[in-house]
Order: sequence, then C-alpha cells, then structure tokens
Amino acid sequence: MKPAARAQTPKPTVRRLDDAETVARAGAGEWVRLARAAAAKKRRFRVALAGGSTPQRLYELLATPLFAGMWDPTAVDFVFGDERAVAPDAPDSNYRMAREALLDPVKAPVTRVHRMEGERADLEAAAADYEALLARVCGTRPRSAGGPPPALDLVLLGLGPDGHTASLFPHAASLRETARWVVATDPPAPPLAPRVRRLTLTLPVLNRAAQVVFVVEGEAKAERLAEVLEGPRDPERLPAQGVAPAQGRLVWLVDRAAASKLAHTEVADG
Ligand code: 6PG
Repeated sequence: MKPAARAQTPKPTVRRLDDAETVARAGAGEWVRLARAAAAKKRRFRVALAGGSTPQRLYELLATPLFAGMWDPTAVDFVFGDERAVAPDAPDSNYRMAREALLDPVKAPVTRVHRMEGERADLEAAAADYEALLARVCGTRPRSAGGPPPALDLVLLGLGPDGHTASLFPHAASLRETARWVVATDPPAPPLAPRVRRLTLTLPVLNRAAQVVFVVEGEAKAERLAEVLEGPRDPERLPAQGVAPAQGRLVWLVDRAAASKLAHTEVADG
C-alpha cells in the first residue's frame, strides 16, 4: 500500500476555552452554525460524530433548550467517525453514548441515524457496507463505482493519549489507506486502548470534510497536543497530524489545561 498522499495543510484555527464546559459550548455553537448554513441551502446537514468521552457534554448541550431550538434534528444525517466491535448497547459503544446524550433526547429520526455495525462478525463486510451507506447518504457514487470520498459538512474528532484520532492508531495500516473510506482496524495493546477491534473512517474521508472540529480537554492531553500542533510532522506516530482537510476548515477547541504546553501556536481566546 502506498503512503497516504500528503494533503495540503490548512492553517488550523485553535480556540482556547476556559474549561470543559466552554469547549462543549463552543462545539455546540459550531454545530448549530453549520447546521443552519446547510438548512439555508435547503440541504441536510451531514455530520460525523466522535466517540470517546470528551464530546458527550457537547452532545448533551445540543439537546438542551439553549441549543435545541436552533437546529433541526430531522434535517441531519448522523454518521459515525468510528466504532468499537461491540453491541450497540455496550458500555463502550460510541453509538450508545451518542444515542443517550443526543439522538434520543432530540428524537433524531431513526432513518437519519447511520450507525456503524460494530457487532457484526465480519467487520470487513461491515466496513464495505458502511461505505455504500455513506455514498447513499451523501447522494454520490459508491466507491465501487469509482465515486470520490463523501464530503461531510462536519467531522467531530477527539485526540487520543497516543496521538490517535477516530480509530486511526499510530503505525496502523489504516492510517496509510488511500482508497477505502471505511476500514476495520486493531488498536494497539492495552493500556493505551482496550483491545477491541474497531471500524473507522479513513483519512481520505476526514480530509474531504468541509469542516473538522477537534475537541480536546485536560492537562493529560497537553503534551500530546503540543506535539501534534508544534512538533515535527510525523503522522505515522501522531495520526492526528494526518487530518488536514484539503478544502475545508480545521478547528481545534481546547481548554486551558490542554493548551498549557503550546508555545508558538497562534491561539484565539474564546
Ligand atoms: C473513540 C475515539 C477516539 C477518541 C479519543 C479521545 O472512540 O474513543 O475513536 O479517537 O476520540 O481517544 O477520547 P476521549 O475523548 O475519551 O479522551
């Protein structure tokens, strides 16, 4: 497999927020803005949800009266950035977290919620089916018919302690994928991540998005964040560095603790 073509690196926007709550609020604000922009064009808003724990509060906020009146859940296609090979009601299912925090509270129509089927025995087949689903959702030609990767309106991502994002782990073949849109992959051995197989969108899809928003919180992420944003470019070791939407906007929403080791990144407060 050839190494992934280096996308044009856009200058990221890095916003430093006071704490986890203001990071979540800023994320909800980005969501609402983009959802409304899609609605103004009479299009459905296509968003890829992140897993992990950080986005949970952002999802909860979107369902609160403050935000819920500002976007229309029936005009959204909810897809997933990655999923663990577990049942949809398992404690570590990304779908379960999103359903409880956001999808059920806003009554997202079941026909608009497109989960990755991590419970299937054949994860490679589940990945191929998810590619076909993405093409249908985005109204484009499937990959099998030569279609380009789908262009999502918003991709939400987190930063793992080892620099991974979605389920693109350091030195994994999935990171070098240039053709497939969705792959099955193995995380590294514990303790960095539970050793459960994963499904993940690949860089060709992440880098086609109109906007990518990373949400990062806490001092434990500070050093890794500084490496990703300021260190030498090495996406094999730091997969998050591989995210560089070719024609999109790249936004990092980070709290003060996570931003504490940034030395020369241009940071906007608030
Ligand atoms: C997951 C995501 C993963 C996550 C980061 C950050 O399903 O866990 O794939 O990329 O976003 O590991 O996780 P936290 O938000 O829990 O720190």
